Amino acid sequence: MAGELFRKLEGVQAIVFDAYGTLFDVATPVFKQEAALGGKAAEVAALWRQKQLEYTWVRSLIGVHADFWAVTRDALNYTLENFAITEPGLADEMMTGMLKLEAFADVAAALPTLRAKGKRLAILSNGSPSMLDSMLRAAGLEKLFEQVLSVEEVGIYKPSRRVYRLAMQKLQIADAPSICFVSANGWDAHSAAQFGFQAVRIKRAAVPDDRLPGKLAGVVENIGQLLEVV
Ligand code: LAC
Repeated sequence: MAGELFRKLEGVQAIVFDAYGTLFDVATPVFKQEAALGGKAAEVAALWRQKQLEYTWVRSLIGVHADFWAVTRDALNYTLENFAITEPGLADEMMTGMLKLEAFADVAAALPTLRAKGKRLAILSNGSPSMLDSMLRAAGLEKLFEQVLSVEEVGIYKPSRRVYRLAMQKLQIADAPSICFVSANGWDAHSAAQFGFQAVRIKRAAVPDDRLPGKLAGVVENIGQLLEVV
């Protein structure tokens, strides 16, 4: 059963994945600190992620870039202050946790099969190169991807078209629809579709489809379902 994916995707040479929220669970470092967060873990996780993304968008619009490590720390400081959480050392521990996020279970299970089907696999992420490298190694997934691409190469965040173009350049793929782009972040999937990729949203949470430009090629529940259509 292929979720809400409408059709088989034709001509896909490479599958490019978003990282945070798509391959890796961004809430991991928050839930590890549940005791210290005094019952507020879910709210802290949601606000931290919301502010992290908001800061990337604002920085991209005003043209003042800082890498994802700095932006993530700024967003965490905002979040902890908002909830009046002042425990010494907690923010450092949560940031360290960002370097060893847990991968969703279907990642290690399904990605080798996609590769065996002859698909080239890559990551295209807001994460800085060292964040992505640490996270992939901690999860033992570093050998699965042909390319791990960071926005640091272009100095602006998603959904700038410069970021999506980077994937085409690095993979040396000249026609955008040959790339299937997979993201759990609706805004990222829609923006990739608007750019020209065959974009699929992976439904890691039961949220509605975003009302944004860019027509998705489909929606799947997990990477296993993607296997059926590429
Ligand atoms: C990333 C964010 C958008 O990995 O999740 O690029």
